[in-house]
Amino acid sequence: MAKIIDKLTERYIYSLLPARDAVLGEMETEARKRSIPIIGPAVGRMLHQYARIIAARRVFEMGSAIGYSTLWLAGAVGVEGKVYYTDGSRRNAEEARGYFERAGVAERIEILVGNSIELIDTVQGEFDLIFNDVDKYQYPDAFRKAVRRVKRGGLFIADNVLWGGRVAQSDSDQDTEGIREFNRLIYSTAELYPVILPIRDGVAVCLKQ
Ligand SMILES: C[S@@+](CC[C@H](N)C(=O)[O-])C[C@H]1O[C@@H](n2cnc3c(N)ncnc32)[C@H](O)[C@@H]1O
Repeated sequence: MAKIIDKLTERYIYSLLPARDAVLGEMETEARKRSIPIIGPAVGRMLHQYARIIAARRVFEMGSAIGYSTLWLAGAVGVEGKVYYTDGSRRNAEEARGYFERAGVAERIEILVGNSIELIDTVQGEFDLIFNDVDKYQYPDAFRKAVRRVKRGGLFIADNVLWGGRVAQSDSDQDTEGIREFNRLIYSTAELYPVILPIRDGVAVCLKQ
């Protein structure tokens, strides 16, 4: 867990969260054991909540790993909804498929393996919500592909936009620079109305207007 707000306050927020269902709980345990960088339950609830607020039915996810964030989104889109899972790793995708089946939502998730930034071109139509969590140096490219595919009134959401605070410090590695550029892009794009929430590692929520 990254530390944007102080540890005690962060722990307090997490202590309030209700227990997750069995499959999400198991994924959290696996992620902890194997150091898989998932969004965790506080951001998971946030994604789920935003998807429900806008009654999202079509969701595209960029960088899905073992499908933890996908599962939070799938729970929000309802039986008629669809979430596109994308990840570069076939092994991740196979593991994710098992969780989706056990959670009873496999039929509303389409699994695509490859580069998310290219895969988005293979799916037609607009999305109610796009969630970006690819490698951080790729954030500007993900931005350029994704924003035009979100429908007006929809949301473009990205994780890790405060990057453990490094965006505000003197770090100049590729990932930090990628996120800095991404943050500049979202705030300078007229068709977006962005807000950065300092939850966990920072989440950018951009309304397409
Ligand atoms: C931070 S993890 C995603 C975690 C996931 N969103 C969650 O919270 O459950 C990033 C994942 O994206 C994958 N990835 C990174 N860049 C990618 C790209 N351009 N295309 C496809 N997958 C990518 C990585 O292999 C990794 O599995």
